[in-house]
Amino acid sequence: MWINWRSDLETGIAAVDADHREIIRRFNALLTACEQGRGRDEVKGLISYLENYAGTHFRDEEKLHEETGYPDAAVHREQHRTFTDKLRELNAKFSQQGTPVYLVVRTNRFLAEWLFDHIYEKDREFGDFLRKKKTAGRPEPGA
Ligand SMILES: [Fe+2]
Ligand SMILES: [Fe+2]
Repeated sequence: MWINWRSDLETGIAAVDADHREIIRRFNALLTACEQGRGRDEVKGLISYLENYAGTHFRDEEKLHEETGYPDAAVHREQHRTFTDKLRELNAKFSQQGTPVYLVVRTNRFLAEWLFDHIYEKDREFGDFLRKKKTAGRPEPGA
């Protein structure tokens, strides 16, 4: 199940949107690799990318929440923490066990859940909030 970028996912913040596009691209690349029997080769690079992503991307988003007075910031931040914890667990398993197929499958599922539960839901809500805020700040036409 390949995932496409949708314009309503855009937050309007270039760095955040670029990260989301990249995570979707990598998810699709992992699916392609699995189909071609290369999932185990691909998964390591993905995990190290995600580790990096989790650190900088979440920090950037949370900073924006704070700067814009986003009311749902606490719930959102909690999901970031959960993702980071799960990622750490997954990573530890890879270190202990190498790349067994079941872990590749688990990574796949983990990322799919993240895309649908967080990027499609929570990050999109934040995008909507930013758009509304921008519109509200604009002077009435003709005013
Ligand atoms: Fe995000
Ligand atoms: Fe987020």
